[in-house]
Amino acid sequence: MSFVTAFSSELDHIMALLPILHYPDPRLHTRATAVAVVDERIRQLVDDMAETMRAAEGVGLAATQVDVHLRIIVLDVSEDHQQLQVFINPRLLSSEGEAENEEGCLSVPGIYDRVTRARRIKVEAMNREGKLFTLEAEGLLGTCIQHEMDHLEGKVFVQHLSQLKQNRIKTKLRKRARENL
Ligand code: NI
Repeated sequence: MSFVTAFSSELDHIMALLPILHYPDPRLHTRATAVAVVDERIRQLVDDMAETMRAAEGVGLAATQVDVHLRIIVLDVSEDHQQLQVFINPRLLSSEGEAENEEGCLSVPGIYDRVTRARRIKVEAMNREGKLFTLEAEGLLGTCIQHEMDHLEGKVFVQHLSQLKQNRIKTKLRKRARENL
C-alpha cells in the first residue's frame, strides 16, 4: 500500500491520503473481514480514511475503497462537514420500507444514478473508541450507511443498476483510465 503523506501545521501527527480504487477494479469486490480489536492502528486508519474522504469531497468511504479489507466505514453527511461518524463492524439489525435516491461513489467518479434501498434502517456498530452503539437512520444518512455497507460485501452501487448500464459505465471508466495514464 502506498501513501501520499502530508504534514499539518496544526496537528503534529502525520496524516495520510490513501489512494482510492476505481471501478471496475476487481479489488472492490473483496468481502471485508471483521476488526478484531479497535487499537491505535485501527484509529490511525480511521483518521486517514476521514482525511481521504474529505480531500475527495465525499460523504462516505468504506475501507474496501482504499484496498484495506476490514469492516470499517466513515461518514459525514453534515452541512458543515465537521460531524464524522465511524462504523466498525456494522451490522444491520432491521430495515423497513423502500426509498429511491440518486447515488454517486468516490470509486465511480462522475457517475450518478438512482438506487432503491430500505427507507429506514437500524444498525449496530462500534465507534472509533471501540464502543458499541445502535443507530436508526433514514434519508441521506440511511442511504449512505447502506451504500457503504455494500462496499464491505464487495458490492459497488452500480451493481444495483441494469446490466446494460453497468457495461456502459465500465466502458466509460476504462476509457477514462486509459486516457489518464
Ligand atoms: Ni461508494
